[in-house]
Amino acid sequence: MKRMLAAGILTISDKGAAGERQDKSGAAIHEILPTIGVRIVNYDVIADERELIAEKLAKWADEDHLDMVFTTGGTGLTPRDVTPEATLSVVDRIVPGFAEAMRAESLKKTPMAMLSRAVVGTRGRCLIVNLPGSPKAVRECLEVILPALPHAVETLKGQAGECGQPEPDSTTVRG
Ligand code: MTE
Repeated sequence: MKRMLAAGILTISDKGAAGERQDKSGAAIHEILPTIGVRIVNYDVIADERELIAEKLAKWADEDHLDMVFTTGGTGLTPRDVTPEATLSVVDRIVPGFAEAMRAESLKKTPMAMLSRAVVGTRGRCLIVNLPGSPKAVRECLEVILPALPHAVETLKGQAGECGQPEPDSTTVRG
C-alpha cells in the first residue's frame, strides 16, 4: 500500500502568533507542497521563542511521525530571529546541501539571500527545512529543493531504490 508523504508547516512570527499578521508564507507552502504529492497534516503559527520552536519540532517528528516539517520565518539577523538555533538544537544531522542550494539559487534573485541563516536537518525519520519568512522567498526556495525532497525522505526511511535511477513514482513512499 502506498501513502502520501505527511508534512507540517510551522510559521514562526511574533506578529502572526499575536494575530496581527496574516500568514501568507504558510499559505504559500500549503499551496506548493501538494503539487509533489505531499499532504499537510499539521499547521501552527508560533512566536519567535527558541524553546517553543524546539518543542514543536520535536513533537511533530517524534510523536506525530511527520515525514517533513517546513518552518517559515525567523532565519534572519534581527535579535528575535532564532529559528536556526532552535532547529539545530533538535536535529541529529544537518543536510547542508539543501540550504546551500536554496541560498545559491536565491542569490541569483537577490543579494538579501545572504541574510538567511536557514538550516536543514533530520530528526529520526523526519526532514526539517527552514525557509525564510516572506511568501516570495518561500516560493523561490521551495522551487529549488522540491525535486530532491521525495528522494530525500525515501532515503531517510531506508526505502529508496538505487540512487541515480529514475523512479516511476517519486512522490509516494511505501508505508
Ligand atoms: N531568499 C529568497 N529566495 N528571496 C528573498 O526575497 N529574502 C531575504 C532572505 N532570503 C529572500 C531570501 C531576506 S530580505 C531576509 S531578511 C532573510 O531571508 C531572512 O528572512 P526571515 O528572517 O524572514 O527568515
